Amino acid sequence: MSGVTATRPAPAAHPAPGRRVAAAARSATKIYGAGGDTAVRALDGITVEFPEGRFTAVMGPSGSGKSTLLHCLAGLDSLTSGQVVIGDADLGSLSDKQLTLLRRDRIGFVFQSFNLVPTLTAEENITLPLALALAGRRPDRRWLDEVVATVGLADRLTHRPSELSGGQQQRVAVARALVTRPEIILADEPTGNLDSRAGAEILGFLRRAVLELGQTVVMVTHDPVAAGYADAALFLADGRLVDQLEAPTAAGVLDRLKALGG
Ligand SMILES: Nc1ncnc2c1ncn2[C@@H]1O[C@H](COP(=O)(O)OP(=O)(O)OP(=O)(O)O)[C@@H](O)[C@H]1O
Ligand SMILES: [Mg+2]
Repeated sequence: MSGVTATRPAPAAHPAPGRRVAAAARSATKIYGAGGDTAVRALDGITVEFPEGRFTAVMGPSGSGKSTLLHCLAGLDSLTSGQVVIGDADLGSLSDKQLTLLRRDRIGFVFQSFNLVPTLTAEENITLPLALALAGRRPDRRWLDEVVATVGLADRLTHRPSELSGGQQQRVAVARALVTRPEIILADEPTGNLDSRAGAEILGFLRRAVLELGQTVVMVTHDPVAAGYADAALFLADGRLVDQLEAPTAAGVLDRLKALGG
């Protein structure tokens, strides 16, 4: 990642944990299908804070509310009650337009289901947020090349999503989230479809984004090895925070998951 700091001054490396909150959900409840018998309490009064310049893994069984939490943090979905903040912005108090700008300028999101635009090539998908954010200005080609090289897609840039494997589509989705160098990256299982080597490349890159660029990463994962790249691991169950680990190791995470019955 050398050269990157030349184009954007990096905040101090290793910011003290807890110094500033990059994102938080407070007393957050999300009920889907409210009112009927089918109502699901996906988030149940959860409070979680993600310090600036930290890499946090979010773990928990299927259906525990991990994707819902990430979507609500990104303003892609709204809470039933409670508060979400990104930096000093309370998402609930923003207009649709302000929310759109905040998402565009400050958040990079990797969807569990990739959400690529099927009619665009891999390169066009990656540079789409850049095109929106730069409004005619030239992209930083060196950074773009570094992102593309890191995700290992240099020879697939002209392919459309239907012509890419699941793992390749996932790498396009990760590159798209990184390309604008957002303050905060919210990644839903960014390595779930990758073999361990491709996964390690991307996890190492996320780790360096935190250390060298001061970015904040929140990553949902089922994989204890992936969680081992994070500064902390949070464990969700039934829409609540049930445990957390500082400086997690893969073995430590595995033990904790076993203890939680995962
Ligand atoms: N749009 C929706 N409408 C109704 N229920 C939903 C909706 N989205 C999620 N849910 C429910 O909310 C709960 C939490 O879902 P969520 O997708 O957040 O889980 P998750 O922890 O990400 O699971 P996984 O590990 O399988 O991705 C689940 O019971 C799910 O069925
Ligand atoms: Mg999910």
